[in-house]
Amino acid sequence: MLRNAIVLALTLTVATNAQQPSASRVDKLLASMTLEEKLAQLSQYVPDQPELKPLLQKGLFGSILSGADAAAKNVLQRTAMDGSRLKIPILFGHDVIHGYKTIFPIPLAIASSWDPEMAETSARIGGIEARAGGIHWTFAPMVDIARDARWGRIAEGAGEDPYLGSLMAAAYVRGFHAGGILACAKHFAAYGAAEGGRDYGSTDMSERTLREVYLPPFKAASDAGVDSFMSAFNALNGVPATGSRWLITDILRGEWKFKGFVVSDWTSVTEMIAHGYASDRRHAARLALMAGVDMDMVSNSYGELAADVASGAVPLSVVDTAVRRVLEAKVKAGVFDQPFADESRPAKVMLTPDHRAAARRVAQRSIVLLRNEGNLLPLSRKARTLAVIGKLADSSEDMLGPWAAEGEKEDTISVLAGLRAAAGADNRIVYVPDDRAAALAAARDSDVVIAVLGESRNMSGEAASRTSIELPSDQQQLLEAVVAAGKPVVLVLMSGRPLAIPWAAEHVPAIVNAWFLGTEGGHAVADILFGAVSPSGRLTVTMPRATGQVPIYHAMLRTGRPANETEKYTSKYIDTKIGPLYPFGHGLTYTTFEYSDVRVSAASMARNGSVTASATIRNSGTRAGDEVVQLYVSDPVASTVRPIRELKAFRRLSLAPGEARIVTFPIGASELQLWTPGGWVVEPGRFEVTIGPDASRGMTAAFNVVE
Ligand code: GLC
Repeated sequence: MLRNAIVLALTLTVATNAQQPSASRVDKLLASMTLEEKLAQLSQYVPDQPELKPLLQKGLFGSILSGADAAAKNVLQRTAMDGSRLKIPILFGHDVIHGYKTIFPIPLAIASSWDPEMAETSARIGGIEARAGGIHWTFAPMVDIARDARWGRIAEGAGEDPYLGSLMAAAYVRGFHAGGILACAKHFAAYGAAEGGRDYGSTDMSERTLREVYLPPFKAASDAGVDSFMSAFNALNGVPATGSRWLITDILRGEWKFKGFVVSDWTSVTEMIAHGYASDRRHAARLALMAGVDMDMVSNSYGELAADVASGAVPLSVVDTAVRRVLEAKVKAGVFDQPFADESRPAKVMLTPDHRAAARRVAQRSIVLLRNEGNLLPLSRKARTLAVIGKLADSSEDMLGPWAAEGEKEDTISVLAGLRAAAGADNRIVYVPDDRAAALAAARDSDVVIAVLGESRNMSGEAASRTSIELPSDQQQLLEAVVAAGKPVVLVLMSGRPLAIPWAAEHVPAIVNAWFLGTEGGHAVADILFGAVSPSGRLTVTMPRATGQVPIYHAMLRTGRPANETEKYTSKYIDTKIGPLYPFGHGLTYTTFEYSDVRVSAASMARNGSVTASATIRNSGTRAGDEVVQLYVSDPVASTVRPIRELKAFRRLSLAPGEARIVTFPIGASELQLWTPGGWVVEPGRFEVTIGPDASRGMTAAFNVVE
C-alpha cells in the first residue's frame, strides 16, 4: 500500500515535471485565453447545478465538486474537454475529510490519538482511494480551532489547541500529497469561533487571539505545502473572510508567502450580500476576487466580472493571476496529462484489507478511556452474558460520522457487530435498542452491561449546532435504568463533540469516548473493551460538566479572581462545580504511570536562548501501556494577561510494566513567545513548565528569561 502511494506520488511528480505543461506552457495557454474563458476557470459548479448544463458543452468552468464515481466523472471530463476550445481539463474536488470509501475516525477522534502519523495515514489512504475515484483535490484538512462544544463542526478539526492542531494540519497535508491529491486548508479564518457556537455566526476577537490561537494551524498547513485555502463563511471583526484582503492577501500571501490558490466556501461569495457587505452579486464577486479569492464555489458570480474588467474596476492582471494559480494547480494535480480516471483502479484500491487494517488501528488509538473504576475494563472473555443497550450500538450508519464522503454503512462495523465478532461463541450477547423495561430485564440477566449512547451522526458536523450537549433525556433515563439493575455498566459514548455527562461520571464505573470511528469502528471498540489493545487516546477538547460552562478550555486567560470552591466572589458558576468534567489531555490506560524528577536544565536563559525540561515517567502498573507526556508552559507575569497554561509539547511513550524513561523537551522562543503588534516577542521574567498526564495536573519547575 505504501509502495503504491509512493509510486503514485512519484508518478504525479514526474508527470508534473516531464509531460505536464511547464510554467511557459501555462503562460502560452493564458495568453491564448479569452476573458470569458479566463473567468470560466475561476468557477466551480456541482453536477446538478442548472447553470452548469450550457457551460458543459463548451468546457466553460474550472472545477466540479462531485462525489460521483470515476466513470461519471470521465463522462463530464470528456464532454467538457471536447467542448473546450483549448482542451483545459476539469479539476474535480470533493470533501475527503476522514477517508473516501474506507472511512477513518472523524478528525476530532484522530486528534485524540495525539499521533500525527494517524492523521497522515487517514489522509494518505483517503487520497489513494479518492484519486482512484477520479478526485484530484480534497477540501481538507479542516484546521479550525474550536473551543465551543455547541458548534457541530468541532467534529471536523483537531480540537481546542493550536500546537496540537498545527501538528495535525501538517500531517494531513503530507498524507493527502502521499495519496496523490491536492489539499485545501479550511476555513480561513476563525470559523470555529462563531458566536454562541452557532454555525456561520460572526466572529470577533483581538488580533492577539487570532494570531496565537486560530491562525497557527493554517500557517502550519501553508508551511507544509498545502495547495489551496478555502475562505470561510464567517465575518471576522466585521469583514466577511471571503472578502478580507487582509487575511487572504496581506497575511496568507504577503506574510506567509503562500503560492497556491484560494477557493471560496459554498456560495460564500454572494453571501456577502446577506452579510450586508456587498450590494449585489457583481459587487460581491469583485470584493472576493480583489481580496484574493481565486475560485468561486457554486455562487456562479465571477462571470459577471467581465464588465468590471472592461471598466477597469477589476484589472485584467488580477484575473490573469487567479487563472494562473488555477492552471498551475491543474498542472500540479496532473490533470493535463491524465484528465481521465482509470476506471479499473477503484476495484483494486477501495476498502482493501490493508486499508481496513489501517482504519482499525487509527480507530483503536482514537478511543479515550475516561473512567475505569475498579478496573472493570478490560472485560474478561470468560463465558458470560453481555447486555448491549442503545440503538446506536447497532447503527453502522452513525459509526461513519459526518462528512463520510463515499463511505457506506454496508461496509461499516457497528459496535454490536464488533462485540459479537470479538466475544466469540462462549459469550451470550443480548441486544436491546431502546425499550427501558426490556433493557432493565436484560441488564438484570447479564454479567455486564454495555450501554452505547450519545449522538447520531447528523447531530454534529455542518449546520448542527446544539443548545445542549447533555445526553438526550431518553438516553439518560435508559442509562439510569440499567445502572439501577446493579450490574457493572460500561458506557460507550458515540459523538462528534464532547458531551456533558456528569451523572454518568459519578455512577457508571467505565466510560469510553468512542466518537465516530468509521468503517472499522465496531472492531476497534471491541478490541479496547476486551483488552486486545490498550486504550491510549487523550482528549483534545475539554469535556464540560454542563453546556452552561461552554466555552471552557485549558488555555483560558487568567482572571483577577481565579475560581475557588470556598470563596463566593471568584470566577465560577453557583450551580456547577468548578472546572471541567474531564480536562484537556485526559485519558486513562490499562496501567498506571508515575512522574518524578521534573527539572529544567538551567535556572535562567537569554531571550534568544533555550533550556531543556525533563521528567522521568515510569509504568507503575502491571500491563504495558502508552503514556502521552504533556508539557505546559505558564507565563505568570507579562505585559498582557496570559493563559493559565498552554500546551507546548508532548511525547507518546510505550512503556512495559516497571519500565521508566526520561523525557526531555527543548524550551525556546517558540514555546515562550507572545504576539504583539510589533511581532512575536519573548519577554524577560519567570516561566513555569508543568509536565504531566493532562492539563489539570503535573509537576512544575521554573526558570527565568533574562535580558
Ligand atoms: C460546505 C462546507 C465546506 C465544504 C464545502 C463543499 O458548506 O463549509 O467545508 O468543503 O461546502 O462541500
